[in-house]
Formats: sequence, structure tokens, C-alpha cells
Amino acid sequence: MDDFMQIVVALVTGYVLWTVVTALWRYNALCRTLKKFAQAGPAHWFWGHMKNDFMTDMRPLFNSPNAVLWQKTRNTKWTIFWTSFVPLIQANHPDSAKAVLKLSDPKPRGRGQIYSVLNQFLGDGLVTSNGGKWQRNRKLLTPAFHFDVLRPYIRIYNEATDIVLEKFARQMKETPKSTDILSVLNLATLDVILRCALSYEGNVQRQEKHPYATAIQRIGFLHTQRMTYPWQYLSWTLYMMSADGKEYKRHLDYIHGFADDLIARRKKALEDEPSLLEGKPRLDFLDILMTAKDDSGAGLTDKEIRDEVDTFMFAGHDTTFAALTWALYNLGKYPEEQDKVYREVCDVTGDRTFIQWEDLGKLQKLTLFMKENMRMYPPVMFSTKQLSKPLELDGVSFPTGTSLTVSFLNLHHHPDVYPDHTVFRPERFLPENSKERDPYAFLPFSAGPRNCIGQNFSMNEQKVLLSRIVKRFKLVLDEDHEVIPVPESTYRPKTGIKIRFEERESHRNLI
Ligand code: HEM
Repeated sequence: MDDFMQIVVALVTGYVLWTVVTALWRYNALCRTLKKFAQAGPAHWFWGHMKNDFMTDMRPLFNSPNAVLWQKTRNTKWTIFWTSFVPLIQANHPDSAKAVLKLSDPKPRGRGQIYSVLNQFLGDGLVTSNGGKWQRNRKLLTPAFHFDVLRPYIRIYNEATDIVLEKFARQMKETPKSTDILSVLNLATLDVILRCALSYEGNVQRQEKHPYATAIQRIGFLHTQRMTYPWQYLSWTLYMMSADGKEYKRHLDYIHGFADDLIARRKKALEDEPSLLEGKPRLDFLDILMTAKDDSGAGLTDKEIRDEVDTFMFAGHDTTFAALTWALYNLGKYPEEQDKVYREVCDVTGDRTFIQWEDLGKLQKLTLFMKENMRMYPPVMFSTKQLSKPLELDGVSFPTGTSLTVSFLNLHHHPDVYPDHTVFRPERFLPENSKERDPYAFLPFSAGPRNCIGQNFSMNEQKVLLSRIVKRFKLVLDEDHEVIPVPESTYRPKTGIKIRFEERESHRNLI
């Protein structure tokens, strides 16, 4: 080797060593800092918390007060959850949640970050994008959730509910003891988002199963599975070599193909009949994407449109589906709460079965119930920011690049904020009972600049479905069926939920 090559080799070796040593030194410093915070249970030296029992069954967190992680979070504002060697620094208190959510720092990207995994699925849509692109698209899409756009959707929510009621009634004839609620609710929420936001009429609910819904369920499961294997989590190539990776790719291809097809159909419909948008007081989501132009007159590219369609189909149906699932569970589990909701729905709607726009604001008890439901079972479990400059919080300095997560589940169960957090009590959201509570103590839709754009859409949809289900049926939870909450892409019941729907006598005479 000549002198020049020796110098090059020495420099490269020195650089690699320096990088490794400084990385280890920073990692060690971070570990020492994180020791000050509560840990999410005992962590394995290699797997971290990824193989802990609560990853596949979260019941012990609710059931045994002395063993729960939440008791350990007394007097703390942060919890550390180790995904193998990568720590998730979780804000679990209104003070720390506020500090994180107010940051204008981006969602994390890069190797080993959950948003990078989501990025393979949702592209650069609103949930995963950052900076100028996010700002432009958020501004562009906000009008799609204007009150005037949401108002006519009430008809679609009602029509979707008609089919849900019909299906539950039919299923009860087939299996009188109880019936699983998941597939019925899943298809209903998928149908609603497709019809409202994407002008797609595909009779989704009339099918037994829909491949899109199945693909989303599997993707949610596979995401969590992937996180348990750090080498698969860190490397797409290694993941693609596994059976799970191949299955994941198959679902992704299907989902992207479905969105492409949907966009192509709408484009063709608009080309064939340009007057389709005339007379519409406001454009819906897909029309906005198709017709949007920036200051230079350029529209969104096909890939940009698809990323937003994928994002809204996922964010707009899987979350509401999870919320409704837990709502029916809690209605069945707490008959006295169900009775309060039922009596209110009867008072507000009288002889009508259809819910009208004006009814929504009057369903106060139902709203309290829905809030308590999302406190106990927040459908979305996390939101994360990545520091673009160092930050000093609670006497700890977090370096640039640190990811700070808000855990909505831990926040909603913090024993200092909700001492009776395992008790289901909708009245805690009455104004007189919540006026002292920090607004950052209850955040199912997150808060700050990256809050949920679809929260009113979802609340309205949930109200129509829940009030009509309760008005027609008395719900009784099948206590013989084990309900196992698991943390997947949403917080969901692993083996479903079974309910007996008893037709209410009073409903038979309604119009
Ligand atoms: C119960 C139902 C829902 C819940 C609990 C929920 C919750 C959330 C949460 C916690 C976030 C922040 C996520 C993060 O920071 O990573 C979020 C963001 C978002 N949600 Fe929802 N969501 C629901 C329904 C919907 C619906 C119906 C839509 C659309 C129709 C929607 C569209 C979005 C979008 C696009 C974002 C990203 C917003 C941004 O970053 O600008 N969500 N949602």
C-alpha cells in the first residue's frame, strides 16, 4: 500500500472510530439521564420492553392496581419505554404533554423512527409530512372539514347506520347468545370515509369482508410485530426477507393500488362531466386535492394526491372504528350509563329514527360518555416530535435529535390527575367537574399545530351511530368472551368484543 492509501485508510478508520465512540458516549449519557424517569416496567437488556406481557395483553394495567405501570408514574411526568436499544421518552402528565405538543419541531424521520415506518405506508401525507409540505396541505385541506361540508354528511352516517342495525339484528337471529361487533363497525366506518371524503360508492358494507379493511388490520398488527425485531425495524431490506415483511408488502401494494384506482375513477368522472363540481357549495376532500393549485398554478402530483388519500382513508376510518368498538363495549359493560344515554336519545329524537344535524349538539350525556370512553381507551396512542435544537425540560437537557412522545394512554391514566382512573365515570367531564383540570389532561385528538383535523367529523359520525344503536337495541356485554386490549396502530381488542343486542320494545312503533 502506498503512502497515500495508508493515509486514506488511517483517516477513514479514525473517522469511523470517532463516530462510534462519540455515539456510544452520547448514548451512555442519555441512558444515565433517563434513569431519573419511571420505566415502563422491567426492561430486558436486549428487547427492552418490546417482549413485556403488556405488549400482547394490556389487561393487567387496568386490573391489578398494585402491579400497574401507572402507579409507578405517581409524581413523574415522563416514562421511558425501551424499543430494544432505542428509548421512547414519553410525556405522561399534562405539563410534559403540553411542553411537547406546543413544539413546532417536526415529526421524527430516519432509521428506527415509527413515522418512517408509517411513511412507507402513508407516504408524505398530512400525518407523516413536515415543514412546508405539511403547512401547504394542512391549509389546503382544512376547508374540507368546514361546518358546511360536514353538515350534509349526516345523511351518509344515517344510511351507514341503517345497514349496521340491520346486520346486528340479523346476526342476533343467527347467534342469539351474542355477536362479534368488529367487522360490522369496521366496514361501516370504511364506507363512511369512502363516501364522504372520496365520493366512492362501492357498497362496501354489503360485503362480508373488504380486502382494504383486512389489509389495514394486518398492517396494524405487523407494525407492532416489526418493532419487536430491531433488525427488521431498522432495515427495510432485512424486513423484506422475512415472511411478515412479504405479507406487509402485499398489503401495502393492495392499499396503494386501491387508492390509485379510486383517484383514477374520480379523475375520469370529472373529465367526462366537468359540471360535477358545479352547484357544490364547498368541495369535498378528494375534489380539493384534484383541483388545488399553488401560487405558481401547479397542482398536486399524482403521488401527493395518493399519499393524502391513503392517509385520510387510514386516519379517517381505523380511529373512529376503534372508538366505536370500545364505546359499544362500555355501553354493554355499564348498563346504568347506557340507560342515561338511551333516555337522552329518546328525549332528543322523539319519534324519529334518523338523527338530524340539530340533534348533535343536544346529545350532552352521549358526549360525556364518548369522552370517558376515549379517556379510558384512546384510539391513537402516541404523538411524537423530534427536537431540532436542544431543549431543557424539568431540569433535564435533551439534545438535538431526541424524540419526545406523548403517550395519550398514560396521560389519561395518570394517577395524580385521575386518581380513580380505572373507574368509568362520564360525569368527570361535566363542566363543574372538569373546570379545575388542565386542558392538556384529556387529548384523544392531540393538541397544538398537529392536532386531529378530522375530530368533528369523527364525533358526529360516532354520535349518529351510537345514538341509533342504543335507541334500537339494549346492549348486553357477553362476559364469557375475553376482551384483550392490545397496542397496535390503534388501541384495539385483539380477539374482538361480543355483545347481545336485544331489540327494544319501544322501538317497534317508531318511524
Ligand atoms: C376517534 C377518532 C379519531 C382520533 C382518536 C384521532 C386522533 C388523532 C391524533 C391523536 C392525531 C395526532 C397524531 C400524531 O400526532 O401523530 C391525529 C391526527 C390526524 N387525524 Fe385524527 N383522529 C380521529 C379521527 C380522524 C378522522 C375521522 C380523520 C379524517 C377524516 C382524521 C385525520 C387525521 C389527520 C389527517 C391527522 C394529521 C393532522 C396533521 O398532522 O396535520 N382523524 N388524529
